[in-house]
Amino acid sequence: MKPLIVKLGGSVITDKHRRFAVKRSALKRLASELATVKGPLVVVHGGGSFGHPLASKYKIDEGYKNERQLMGLSLTHRAMERLNAHVIDALQKAGLPAIAIPPSACAVVSDGRIQSMELAPIKKLLELGLAPILYGDAVPDLSRGMCILSGDQLIVYLARELGAGRVVLGVDVDGVYTGDPKVDRNAKLVPEITLANWPKLVESISSAGGKDVTGGMANKVRELLALAERRVEAEIVNATKPGTLRRAILGERGLGTRVVAR
Ligand code: IPE
Repeated sequence: MKPLIVKLGGSVITDKHRRFAVKRSALKRLASELATVKGPLVVVHGGGSFGHPLASKYKIDEGYKNERQLMGLSLTHRAMERLNAHVIDALQKAGLPAIAIPPSACAVVSDGRIQSMELAPIKKLLELGLAPILYGDAVPDLSRGMCILSGDQLIVYLARELGAGRVVLGVDVDGVYTGDPKVDRNAKLVPEITLANWPKLVESISSAGGKDVTGGMANKVRELLALAERRVEAEIVNATKPGTLRRAILGERGLGTRVVAR
C-alpha cells in the first residue's frame, strides 16, 4: 500500500505570537484525526514559534558565517526536538505508534536541497506499522555549512522516494489565495493549481502567506508542483477547522487547494 504523507504546518500546532507555545487542544484533535488513517503514514511537522524565531535570530539559513551560529543550530534543533516530543506524545495518546526521525541526523543536504537520505529505517518502520514523524530542522549543509531544511521540502522528497499515493498539507488558511486572506478582502481561494495555471498565479501568491525563513505559500506550491510533475497529487487544507484534515486524509478531494499536474 502506498504511504500517505501529511504535513502539519507550524502555525497549526504552535501559537505564532508566543514563543514555544504549543496549541495543545488543536494538537490533540489533529492527533485523533491522524489516528483514523488505516495504511502507512508519515507525518512531517513545521517549526512555528519553536523553530522560526531561533532560525532567523542566528541566520541559520544564510549558511555558516560565524561561531555564534553553532549554538544557534544547536538551540534551533533542540527547540524542534521539544516540539516534536509534544507531537509524538499527542499521537501516542491518540493510539498511533509514532516514532521520531530527526532530519539533521539522516538527510544529506547541499546548498539547501536534500541530496539523499537514509530511508531504510523509515521503510522498515512503515512496513511494521509504525508512523515515522519528521520535522523541519536546522541541519548541516555540505556546501553552506548549515541551513534550514523545511518540512515542505521533506514531504516532497519523502513522497517521491517512498512512492506516496498522496500528500496532504494542513495549514491555518483554507488553501492558496490570490493575496493574503488575513488582510486582503479581495483575496480569492484557488481551488486547483496546475503546471499550466501556476505561472500566471505565482505573482499574486508570492506576496501572500507571511514571511518566514522557509518562504511562505509560494514556496510550498513550488515544492508540490515538483511532485505533481511525477503524478503525485497534493492538497493544501485548513487543519484548524475540526474534521477537515481527517476528511482529506480519508480521501475527500476539493476541501482546499489541490496541486496536480493536469
Ligand atoms: C521550519 O520548518 C523549521 C525550522 C525553522 C527549524 P517549516 O518551514 O516546515 O515550518 P512551518 O510549517 O513553516 O512552521
